[in-house]
Amino acid sequence: MAVRNVRTIGDDVLDKECRPVEKMTPHIDELINDMFETMYDSNGVGLAAPQIGVLKRIVVIDVTGEDPICLINPRIVESSGEQSGYEGCLSVPGKTGIVTRPSYVKCAALDREMNPIEIEGTELLARCICHELDHLDGKLYVDLVEGDLLDTETASND
Ligand code: NI
Repeated sequence: MAVRNVRTIGDDVLDKECRPVEKMTPHIDELINDMFETMYDSNGVGLAAPQIGVLKRIVVIDVTGEDPICLINPRIVESSGEQSGYEGCLSVPGKTGIVTRPSYVKCAALDREMNPIEIEGTELLARCICHELDHLDGKLYVDLVEGDLLDTETASND
């Protein structure tokens, strides 16, 4: 396992559409291990493969620090409600802004054994699923921010 370099805004790789994973390989399994390690090392709650320069439809999420989730070829199949709150991204260091997301999502994906799974999320998990899936289509939260993109220090002093 290794911590990989996290790409930041302005890097072209973050604007690209990612390709589906066709089959699990030792190489991809190692990539997923590295994604988890990189996310935890950065104190993040989610990471998408393009953030470490790999254009594959894979995300890792852990909103509690005790519930690692790996989603391969994920898609949102149901969503409802609305929540507005501060969002940040490891690829946009030191910044935050208000984004409105669904308050509930259901996501269909494959797990690490390439078996179909469905996960449901509310609150932070719902926000995180939406944020990470956007990365797979080359989208960053900064384009969804309502009002100004703030420095994290400014926002925490509000
Ligand atoms: Ni992000």
